[in-house]
Amino acid sequence: MPPTRPRERTPAGDRAEPEVVLAGRAFVRGRLQPVEIAIGDDGRILSVGRVRDGRARRDVGERVILPAATDLHVHFREPGGDSGAETIASGTVGAALGGVTLVGEMPNTSPPVTDVERYASKRALVEGRAAVDVLLYASPTEPRALPSLARVAGGFKLYLAPTTGIESPPPPSEVAPLLRRLAELSLPLAVHAEDPARFRAAGAPRDPAGWNVARPPEAESAAVDALFPAPDRLRLHIAHVTTAAVAEALRKRRSSFEATPHHLLLSDRSGGDARHKVNPPLRTERDRAALWEAFVRGEVPMVASDHAPHTADAKSLPFDKAPSGVPGAETMLPLLLARVRSGELGLDRLIAAACDRPARWLGQPTGRLAPGHRANLLIVDFRARSRVDGRKLASPSGWSPFEGWEVVRPQEVWKDGRPIVRDGEFVGRTDGRVVRPDYAGGSP
Ligand code: NCD
Ligand code: ZN
Repeated sequence: MPPTRPRERTPAGDRAEPEVVLAGRAFVRGRLQPVEIAIGDDGRILSVGRVRDGRARRDVGERVILPAATDLHVHFREPGGDSGAETIASGTVGAALGGVTLVGEMPNTSPPVTDVERYASKRALVEGRAAVDVLLYASPTEPRALPSLARVAGGFKLYLAPTTGIESPPPPSEVAPLLRRLAELSLPLAVHAEDPARFRAAGAPRDPAGWNVARPPEAESAAVDALFPAPDRLRLHIAHVTTAAVAEALRKRRSSFEATPHHLLLSDRSGGDARHKVNPPLRTERDRAALWEAFVRGEVPMVASDHAPHTADAKSLPFDKAPSGVPGAETMLPLLLARVRSGELGLDRLIAAACDRPARWLGQPTGRLAPGHRANLLIVDFRARSRVDGRKLASPSGWSPFEGWEVVRPQEVWKDGRPIVRDGEFVGRTDGRVVRPDYAGGSP
């Protein structure tokens, strides 16, 4: 017998007695409608529809039950973070509070995750300390380490330009051969696509608009173009796309990609200091608006936070000295739920981009209200609005580029069939798993 796959469990699951039945309104078959979700004692969804029985029943009334989100791009600062920096413990609690039950954590830590030993030590830092599940990316910069890394890591992340923790990206001539090697290894590959040859060194940039000139959109489109044609079998994903033109080019190539809440909602005029310094830079208001429109039309497949929680001290340095990156895992979904509430974004688009597709890309059975999937759920009251207060976020960075923005925070977050967040408090256990893609069975 092959190992039991989630999809094959459904018939047996229907006969099993549910541990909990959750009743409320959910977005199924294209509309919000009353549903009952039966959850088994293994923390998986048994059925979605009418349920006769269940040991415990919970009716959330008019509130909406959504699948929990996956944030496939976060940077927690372990190992090697300065004192006062984000940790796996604080970062995963922030993610949980924001409705995220799986994060993809990036390898640009200190030291970077370039071999199996470093991967194992980072993995050990997750065990017993993570509030949500964690997929750990590795850096594919040590050719000899690739086959062994591919047997343990959750994905690869390739940086084509200098950024936090990355001083010397591979020269362009090495990229195509590297992609060919990675295509043989069956792990997903996320790429930070900016071409440093297109950066402009016209004096020290002093504000986000200057940063956008220094690392212009052309650097991004050139780096993306140079990746294609990509090897057929490569599971290629482009991180933080900032313009509608690059989004359209990637759509035509049927490539996976993400946009971040900051590139969708903020422009190079949103704030003048280093708190709005990020790689790739915030673009012009015109570029931002076009990217947002593409997202609303469903032409941006995924959203990810690129949560880069630099300390407030580091961000108060002069603009050209300050590090790039903004925190965002805890605010990503709440900001976008507020846009659903205001009627600017379809709930179906948001669920696809924040919950379903990122989980599929990482080969995880979560992100959908469907039998066999993990019962990772959110209970949302669209009437309950609040505002972002950086000091109240779980991240020790204690600030947000979205200070004062309206959000709809999930009132409850469930992971594996149990509440882990209630009324803005983390109430779960720190038993998040380290996961790896399972494209065969975990996520059809
Ligand atoms: C990220 C960080 O600080 O880790 N910074 C950023 O500006 N996005 C690194 C990165 O993804 O470039
Ligand atoms: Zn990043």
